[in-house]
Amino acid sequence: MQKVGVIPGDGIGPEVVAEARRVLEKVIELRNLELEFEEFPLGAGHYLKTGEVLTEETLQRLSRKDALLLGAMGDPRVKPGILEKGVLLRLRFHFDQYVNLRPVRLYEGVPSPLSGSNRKIDMLFVRENTEDFYVGLGGRVKGGLSNSSLKLTRRAFEAKFDVGIDLKDEEELAFQIGVISKHGARRVMDFAFQLAKKNGIQLVTSVDKANVLTDMYGLWREACEEASAKYGVAKEFLYVDAVSLHMVRNPERFGLLVAPNLFGDILTDLGAALQGGLGLAPSGNINPAGVSMFEPVHGSAPDIAGKGMANPLGAILSSAMMLETLGHVPAAQDIEEAVKRVLKSGKHMTADMGGKTTTSKMTDEVLAELAPR
Ligand code: NAD
Ligand code: IPM
Ligand code: MN
Repeated sequence: MQKVGVIPGDGIGPEVVAEARRVLEKVIELRNLELEFEEFPLGAGHYLKTGEVLTEETLQRLSRKDALLLGAMGDPRVKPGILEKGVLLRLRFHFDQYVNLRPVRLYEGVPSPLSGSNRKIDMLFVRENTEDFYVGLGGRVKGGLSNSSLKLTRRAFEAKFDVGIDLKDEEELAFQIGVISKHGARRVMDFAFQLAKKNGIQLVTSVDKANVLTDMYGLWREACEEASAKYGVAKEFLYVDAVSLHMVRNPERFGLLVAPNLFGDILTDLGAALQGGLGLAPSGNINPAGVSMFEPVHGSAPDIAGKGMANPLGAILSSAMMLETLGHVPAAQDIEEAVKRVLKSGKHMTADMGGKTTTSKMTDEVLAELAPR
């Protein structure tokens, strides 16, 4: 029996996770899988009631799962960052899920905002998921002298940053440190180049801003060069600003992109728009040797929460990615094929795709396509 920890979270998170579970239950039945689910009520409701964000005990319980399925975190009643950093990033870091895998695929029948029909958009984003400007090292200083000792603890290393600031006058400033480690860059490059090789992708695009953030992304590029030579797969370096341009002008040129955490975050929302809607995009936070966590790319969408408008397909496709990682490839394919058939019909579109189909109706259509024929 494989065990899945489910974290519905905030806003539309619980709505889309419930739909994903309906689809999972159906493939479990059709394919005779042995999966059991346990829900963890983390997020704004839990925090406002108990003052707890995520306890060590919950982390322990989650670490006994084979995989995690998450909805979304973030609520307008809670200051930005408390839940996003306290739950989502804490989980990614704790479980050392160093790859955020985000496929951008335009399925047949889905209108893309780009001109020209039948665009062949199919790219894989391998986003680094534990470093960069996400490490949470920073502070605010107001006039005078200030010393802070900031610590970065990772499984492979620990680094202490003693930051002394002598701020003249009554100025106020805030700073945030970005970190790329050799270990962190190498492992995500290994993953990206191995995946390119496995999928027959000839060219890996490495995204950075090495013309400005020369230290961090200089090291990033070295790791990319090493991996390109090691795996015998070609690479190109593109700046993130240019990648945004090419993604809109000529997305067909990309196969696999490997990106640092922050740029990968931004570019995959752009990718989601290209694939027809933010509600369609799935992702996996992967630790190839540990507990991985699957979630749609979108957030808690408070503007549409509780209205039955959310697109459940991103969460449903994320659960397919989860099944694949758990070794149930045919079941994962069943789900993706069912989603493809629903989209191809062109009849069912949720609000993010410009249509009116409700959340549960969209899932009903997927369930109907899953039935044995
Ligand atoms: P968002 O992704 O929640 O929403 C952006 C826009 O897309 C909104 O107009 C929303 O209605 C729409 N949208 C998102 N998902 C949709 C879906 N499934 N179906 C239809 N429309 C959908 O981003 P935001 O508004 O910037 O952030 C809202 C909250 O979510 C914030 O608290 C933010 O920190 C958090 N957030 C969490 C995650 C996560 O948990 N992985 C990701 C992004 C944002
Ligand atoms: C995402 C989100 C998160 C991120 C936030 C909510 C921490 O935007 O999963 O894309 O930046 O990674
Ligand atoms: Mn994001």
